[in-house]
Amino acid sequence: MIDVIVSRKSMIADDVCAFELASPDHSPLPAFSAGSHIDVHLPNGIIRQYSLCNAPDHVHRYEIAVLREGQSRGGSVAMHELQEGDALQVSEPRNLFPLTPEAKRSFLFAGGIGITPILCMAERLAHIDGTFQLHYCAKSENRAAFSDRISASSWSDHASFYFNEPEGSARLAAKALKDYEHGDHLYVCGPAGFIDFILSQARNSGWPENSLHREFFASDSAEPHEDDGAFEVQLASDGRCFSIPADQSVADVLDDAGVEIPLSCEQGVCGTCVTRILDGQPDHRDMFLTAEEHARNDQFTPCCSRAKSARLVLDL
Ligand code: FES
Repeated sequence: MIDVIVSRKSMIADDVCAFELASPDHSPLPAFSAGSHIDVHLPNGIIRQYSLCNAPDHVHRYEIAVLREGQSRGGSVAMHELQEGDALQVSEPRNLFPLTPEAKRSFLFAGGIGITPILCMAERLAHIDGTFQLHYCAKSENRAAFSDRISASSWSDHASFYFNEPEGSARLAAKALKDYEHGDHLYVCGPAGFIDFILSQARNSGWPENSLHREFFASDSAEPHEDDGAFEVQLASDGRCFSIPADQSVADVLDDAGVEIPLSCEQGVCGTCVTRILDGQPDHRDMFLTAEEHARNDQFTPCCSRAKSARLVLDL
């Protein structure tokens, strides 16, 4: 854990606040690469992940931007209430969304606040003279964080904006996917529907699966719900059954019993914990699996997802 203070706070778009976090003694912070995120431990005990959006060679600060969500369960609201000078703890940066070094061309797609890791990637690619395009979709220019910074950059001619487009921003942006060439890589971040649409368009245009990279911004949907109930999980390997109380996750209960499940974000964002389901119906709470994957009900994220049926049988 790293102690930081909010060294700067500013509104950069409607409902979007940018924060600069620095160490209290101005010492350098641990290095990071484009696409990295940090866990921010908020004063109310909530932990949220935010992508870093400053250049990786800025070693004295971390910059993040946070959209105040209408359906917030406490995370984004608590972030917006922070003031300059407030103390926080953050994790070391982790990168679950790295650039592919051997990419010939990089296609970057951002939906709304999903611009944060994408901006960092664009600045990195510009720095190393990479070939790239940035396609940025937002409801309106007022809601598009960092549009000024992109327009004023030396690489602004690589960027296309799609605001208030009657035809649908994502549909227009996806036109850039038509001419896949071997060695191209695609990176997309934003709301789940936006990501699903861009990826399905890419697949339909012949992009191979290993060229597609996606990142979700942290969501409050993984938080416990008031009406959460208890259920059982059973391990297929030895038949052991575990009761999952309303206030604990499957991953926590199994961990207490010595059943190890790899974890990273613990918020349904990264996909590290995805586990196969052999029987039962999950209650998906993650932002990682696609809508089609959710509908198949044959895997889930035990860090946050729960069950609609009385029992889930897991391939463990
Ligand atoms: Fe990241 Fe479960 S640990 S989705």
